[in-house]
Amino acid sequence: MRIILLGAPGAGKGTQAQFLMGKYGIPQISTGDMLRSAIKAGTEMGLAAKKVMDEGKLVSDDIIIGLVKERIAQDDCKDGFLLDGFPRTIPQADAMKEAGVTVDHCIEFDVPDDVIVDRMGGRRVHPASGRVYHVVYNPPKVEGKDDQTGDDLIIRDDDKEETVRNRLGIYHEQTQPLVDYYNAEAAAGNCSYHKLDGTQPVDQVSQQLAELLG
Ligand code: AP5
Ligand code: ZN
Repeated sequence: MRIILLGAPGAGKGTQAQFLMGKYGIPQISTGDMLRSAIKAGTEMGLAAKKVMDEGKLVSDDIIIGLVKERIAQDDCKDGFLLDGFPRTIPQADAMKEAGVTVDHCIEFDVPDDVIVDRMGGRRVHPASGRVYHVVYNPPKVEGKDDQTGDDLIIRDDDKEETVRNRLGIYHEQTQPLVDYYNAEAAAGNCSYHKLDGTQPVDQVSQQLAELLG
């Protein structure tokens, strides 16, 4: 099963990706997590990406398309994958199509901007696993610690309110056109399209996903 998770920064893509990975046993491909790993490893690409990400802008299509193509070619993706944060521009979606990568489901999480700004202020992450928490809405069992490893949780560098607002602006400008793009794909019979109310509690969103994916 090949799934695209589409939605604004903070809409819950990473949170639901963790649920779907556990349920369907398919890997999460998060371009954001891949870039953050490159930053941590101190690669040249990582250093260049950090500057762009800290401003809330998008990394160039060429870099991202290269990263995803390489990742999808790996063995664990042969039975499917979850795309989290990709594609994010029309050229990225076109590149995937040109490479013959089809998808079964496109799922959009619909969350208004003011809810997003509130959520990002309380986000805590476990970078090694991609697990995501919120101090109020999805708290870890022990404050500041990952549930499975006990490692310290961190605040992402791009979760400052000003950066979040920049990211939201970029989302509306460059990524939201993909809503029409994948609705057209669905109308042509190439995939299914589902829009979910992402303001519901985490468990409720997961339950709806399980119902629609079967
Ligand atoms: P990326 O890491 O992809 O960030 P994003 O898309 O902006 O999305 P987030 O990870 O911020 O949010 P999310 O939807 O995963 O929400 P989450 O589940 O964490 O990208 C970062 C940067 O990398 C980009 O800005 C760009 O520079 C670059 N980049 C990445 N991909 C790129 C691409 N394809 N092209 C170009 N550049 C790229 O949840 C958020 C918070 O809300 C958490 O605290 C969570 O606990 C809480 N929460 C989740 N669901 C609920 C709920 N239902 N109710 C209440 N709280 C909830
Ligand atoms: Zn995420």
